[in-house]
Amino acid sequence: MKTVEQIKRPIAHEMELFEQKFSLSMKSKVPLLNRITHYIVNRKGKQMRPMFVFLVAKMLGGERVNDRTYRGASVIELIHTATLVHDDVVDESYRRRGFFSLNALWKNKIAVLVGDFLLSKGLLLSIDNGDFDLLEIISVAVREMSEGELLQIEKARKLDITEEIYFEIIRQKTATLIAACCAMGAAAVHAQNDVEKMRKFGELIGLAFQIKDDLFDYGSEKIGKPTGIDIKEQKMTLPLIYAVNNSTPKEKAWLINSVKNHNKDKKRVKEVIDYVKSNGGLDYAVTKMKALQQEALVLLGEYPASEYRDSLELMVNYVIDRKK
Ligand code: IPE
Ligand code: IPE
Ligand code: MG
Ligand code: MG
Repeated sequence: MKTVEQIKRPIAHEMELFEQKFSLSMKSKVPLLNRITHYIVNRKGKQMRPMFVFLVAKMLGGERVNDRTYRGASVIELIHTATLVHDDVVDESYRRRGFFSLNALWKNKIAVLVGDFLLSKGLLLSIDNGDFDLLEIISVAVREMSEGELLQIEKARKLDITEEIYFEIIRQKTATLIAACCAMGAAAVHAQNDVEKMRKFGELIGLAFQIKDDLFDYGSEKIGKPTGIDIKEQKMTLPLIYAVNNSTPKEKAWLINSVKNHNKDKKRVKEVIDYVKSNGGLDYAVTKMKALQQEALVLLGEYPASEYRDSLELMVNYVIDRKK
């Protein structure tokens, strides 16, 4: 059995029902919107976030999994989708999930508005049902994600990013939403005492998840979206930050100058990538990612054994080993 199927097995029924509800949650009276959301639903992603919501809810609440949990999972996936739609506008990226991104097909104007629509649908799903505790969890994540994206742009312009700031950016733009999934899974089944611990668990996974995503950018595997674009966008991620910090002043000046003034020069970017690879940048990022993985597994180990805990453990490992 493939890992993902194995992970999903204890929540197969929940995920099936979730997909129906998720699809309905995007309905609109505007035909153009329905055509676009139809396009989105037909090109679903890995759905890792709803999986986290259900696995945590099941592990902690078992029988208490109810409509609230489904709404929580839908809100998160709606917000995640909205963020990706906007992110592809911001990054001028034309591929997503192995197909054209919305901005590639319908242009920026429409992509921005569709992202706003999905965001509002998510928030309203909580409000209309009085899930205010869930709404708070999700709103904090939305704020942090936009702050993280903006901090990233600021650092890309100034090129003064440090390892500490890199971690702050990825915590905000990626880890908070995965933290919200796990916190929400606990809150949805009223496991109040576990909300904070689960948030922490999700944050650790989220950090590892984004390091993995940044490592993909240094590879040439087919992952359904462009690779090799971070340096072009002057986005310095962990492998490059490490290389810069561990180079001679002359090499450092060459690296920074490359990213600053030659970021569109394919040959030069390739040289930077090769430099990062041969100076331990990727190895360093992998080591950091694995340390986060271990921390998450230790935290999970504090919970009693169950099939849900087993799946969460597989999920943590999948984040690190995944091929897309
Ligand atoms: C992509 O997230 C955005 C990042 C935070 C790196 P996923 O890799 O979970 O995206 P999908 O939903 O599976 O496409
Ligand atoms: C992911 O950011 C989107 C957010 C977390 C807001 P990236 O730009 O790094 O991710 P991909 O590679 O496009 O999915
Ligand atoms: Mg992007
Ligand atoms: Mg981006």
